[in-house]
Amino acid sequence: MEKGSPLSALEPEKIAVWFGHLTATEDACRRYWTLLDAAEQARADRLVNPLWKRRHIEAHGLLRCLLSPYLNQPPGQIHIKTAAHGKPFLADHPEWTFNLSHSGNHLVIAMGQHCRLGVDIEPCKPQQNLPQLVKKCFAQSEASYWQALADSEKTTAFYRIWTIKEAFVKATGRGIALGLDQCVTDPGQPGQFLRLPPAYEPPGQWRIIDLEFPTEPDLCGALVTDQARTVQEWPACPLE
Ligand SMILES: CC(C)(COP(=O)(O)OP(=O)(O)OC[C@H]1O[C@@H](n2cnc3c(N)ncnc32)[C@H](O)[C@@H]1OP(=O)(O)O)[C@@H](O)C(=O)NCCC(=O)NCCS
Repeated sequence: MEKGSPLSALEPEKIAVWFGHLTATEDACRRYWTLLDAAEQARADRLVNPLWKRRHIEAHGLLRCLLSPYLNQPPGQIHIKTAAHGKPFLADHPEWTFNLSHSGNHLVIAMGQHCRLGVDIEPCKPQQNLPQLVKKCFAQSEASYWQALADSEKTTAFYRIWTIKEAFVKATGRGIALGLDQCVTDPGQPGQFLRLPPAYEPPGQWRIIDLEFPTEPDLCGALVTDQARTVQEWPACPLE
């Protein structure tokens, strides 16, 4: 990831990516709670698990603080609405798109202009059910590629493909109901899709960007966008 330049300099062909940890402290929650809108607060209140609730408050408060300088609006006044399948968007700034993904205490946020984008992170850890997930969510060509790999390569390869598929369905806004098995990567040519649902063709218009997190080698991440974009680290900006 390219290093971030001063905030005002996010160029149109860049996507800014922020990666960080959620502290989930009471202090952070108190700080961020008042920035959330009624819907975000209501969602937080519905979370029974106190850790998940604190993480939700912090993630959405942080998101607002990070977006604020780009949109030139105070964090608490940004209108974040939700589209039909759950994708959040900026009602007053249609030129800006953002997406976020969390996993445990990790949070990644991506933001760009005049593009569709989706982001996904997953911990790259061995799980017994990977073969079942491959059967259900991978296309035949992806499954054959994966099954032929050495056991030592399977976990990483699985999450590479999985995060790309998730980032794609998030970029479209349709979510997993679009059918992960219909969004087919080309394992031989990382960075490209082989086949996509008809509404999102041609596959060549979509870019796949691998996200690497030097401090978290066991975290796998992907960003998918429909425009020619490169990624830069989110420029440093003061948080609330
Ligand atoms: C979006 C989805 C792929 C998320 O997968 P995940 O790996 O579990 O979660 P991630 O942490 O990567 O992403 C979650 C974030 O993506 C965003 N998101 C939610 N729905 C989204 C969608 N349809 N498209 C893009 N982004 C979406 C939200 O910001 C969410 O964060 P939040 O829950 O804190 O608000 C999955 O939940 C999904 O398919 N949802 C759609 C369900 C649906 O169709 N609902 C219709 C009724 S609203």
